[in-house]
Amino acid sequence: MNEVLNTIANRYSCRSFTNQAVENDKVEAIALAALQAPSAVNKQPWQIIVIKDKALIEEMDAYGMTQLDEASYQRIMGRGGKLFYNAPLMLVIAKNGNKDLDCGIVTQNVTLAATSLGLGNVVCALAGFAFNNDSYKKRIIPEGYEFAISVLIGYPTHPNGKAHEVDLNKITYIG
Ligand SMILES: Cc1cc2nc3c(=O)[nH]c(=O)nc-3n(C[C@H](O)[C@H](O)[C@H](O)COP(=O)(O)O)c2cc1C
Repeated sequence: MNEVLNTIANRYSCRSFTNQAVENDKVEAIALAALQAPSAVNKQPWQIIVIKDKALIEEMDAYGMTQLDEASYQRIMGRGGKLFYNAPLMLVIAKNGNKDLDCGIVTQNVTLAATSLGLGNVVCALAGFAFNNDSYKKRIIPEGYEFAISVLIGYPTHPNGKAHEVDLNKITYIG
């Protein structure tokens, strides 16, 4: 397999990060990869907000935990009790309009770029709960945009996480 296919095959959701900050050159490479995603009619209907402020991430984590529905709260408690898994870096992808598909492709560029750089990462929709707080919304989400999704990134506490099993029955070949 080539390097791209290997990166795709090795990506997995990391849910425990060390305190080590992500180097700026890696942060910038990931943010650039986000912008290189395709979009319908090349509208690029997104803004990428790169949060490197660990104290802010921790603050939003604590607030977000108070906003979760019961099932999500129990799930996160079962994973160590931290909504953002101690990640030192969070990319928030904000959308301009109903653009989840475009922002989803951005998201995958981010996860694959991070994986290729040896970083753990996990897509985090539950981060949306932190934006129930207007002050976070005003500070982080640009005017005219709304939260689409986030990706948490950092160095894994337990390297060698495993990719999920694939179900080849999900592929149909015609011809
Ligand atoms: C749209 C989307 C939202 C997700 N939101 C969360 C989340 O809030 N928290 C979390 O821990 N994982 C989240 N995940 C990660 C999935 O749980 C994970 O991708 C799935 O279990 C498959 O595991 P894998 O990523 O290791 O292959 C999300 C994934 C996607 C695609």
